[in-house]
Amino acid sequence: MKLGNTGLTVTPLGLGLAALGRPGYINLGHAEDLHHNYDRGVMERSAHAVLDVAWEAGIRYFDAARSYGLAEAFLGSWLVSRRISSEEVVIGSKWGYTYTADWRVDVPVHEVKDHSLAVLRRQRQESDAALDGYLDLYQVHSATLESGVLENQAVLAELAGYRESGLAIGLSVSGVSQVETLERAMQVVFDGRPLFQCVQATWNLLDPSAGEVLQAAHRAGLGVIIKEALANGRLTGKNDDPEFAPKLARLEQAALQRGTTLDGLALAAALAQPWADVVLSGAATPGQLLSNVNALNVTLDEDLIASFSDLTESPAVYWAKRSRLPWN
Ligand SMILES: NC(=O)c1ccc[n+]([C@@H]2O[C@H](COP(=O)([O-])OP(=O)(O)OC[C@H]3O[C@@H](n4cnc5c(N)ncnc54)[C@H](OP(=O)(O)O)[C@@H]3O)[C@@H](O)[C@H]2O)c1
Repeated sequence: MKLGNTGLTVTPLGLGLAALGRPGYINLGHAEDLHHNYDRGVMERSAHAVLDVAWEAGIRYFDAARSYGLAEAFLGSWLVSRRISSEEVVIGSKWGYTYTADWRVDVPVHEVKDHSLAVLRRQRQESDAALDGYLDLYQVHSATLESGVLENQAVLAELAGYRESGLAIGLSVSGVSQVETLERAMQVVFDGRPLFQCVQATWNLLDPSAGEVLQAAHRAGLGVIIKEALANGRLTGKNDDPEFAPKLARLEQAALQRGTTLDGLALAAALAQPWADVVLSGAATPGQLLSNVNALNVTLDEDLIASFSDLTESPAVYWAKRSRLPWN
């Protein structure tokens, strides 16, 4: 599968490392997944175990970020130790958030956002050091209209320079304004051509509102990567919100009828979107990854996916709930 016009070839399922590189994250059962063991060596071996299972399952796109703790370093050490060449994988990372939690879970601030030229230059060097020769795609991490990054000519020129030297340039979008941000990003032109070649956005059965703009992006030649297809674990059996119980029961029933699990069903719904080039698994354990991979064997027709439309939340409600998920 082509990742838009980036020239990169990707597998339909990718693995994101947000849950694998640091002790704290917002996914529902993060602390339990890590057995509350935050030793760096243990965490590196756990990340490698999940990466091994992903490799065995045929996954060849891997997604990291500077702010995912040691995710880039763990990915880099895995690639080298398994003797995987840069031609065999596609590696994306992101710049714009700095990890500040100092390997702790109980801190008020885990990452600091700054889309300045100085941070871009520093983080590019750090990403290159960790991923020595493997980096294919560099994404602005959670671009927003307010951050000014899409108007910052110095940053855009720097990114255009990276692009000239062969690195694909993308952005990730999050939050209630992901549609508007992507629409604006698609208009950013540098040296007479659109700058951004790829977008990573949230699409799932609870908030599919970005579908239309992602389809437009795909048509315009951008690579499209879906993140948070399981709504950070809210689309798994771990969601114990009593209000969600009837919806959960319906989804679990539909999954059962198709011989899959809820995570398989939710990921299959994302994989079924014709404009999606890569859907990220955010698996935190080998077992979760194997369960997620089942989605590749599930075919969902449009009518079934449409029948889930009453499960959706308004983007305002969806993102308000997401922002209340505790770091754990
Ligand atoms: N702004 C951005 O650019 C941005 C933002 C978010 C994510 N991302 C990228 O997208 C990737 C995926 O995001 P995400 O981790 O939020 O994705 P997700 O697929 O919505 O959630 C993944 C979480 O669901 C739970 N899960 C998965 N399979 C399960 C199973 N079989 N049974 C029970 N629970 C299961 C696990 O959480 P628990 O075990 O903890 O419950 C896992 O960490 C990230 O790794 C990152 O690369 C980017």
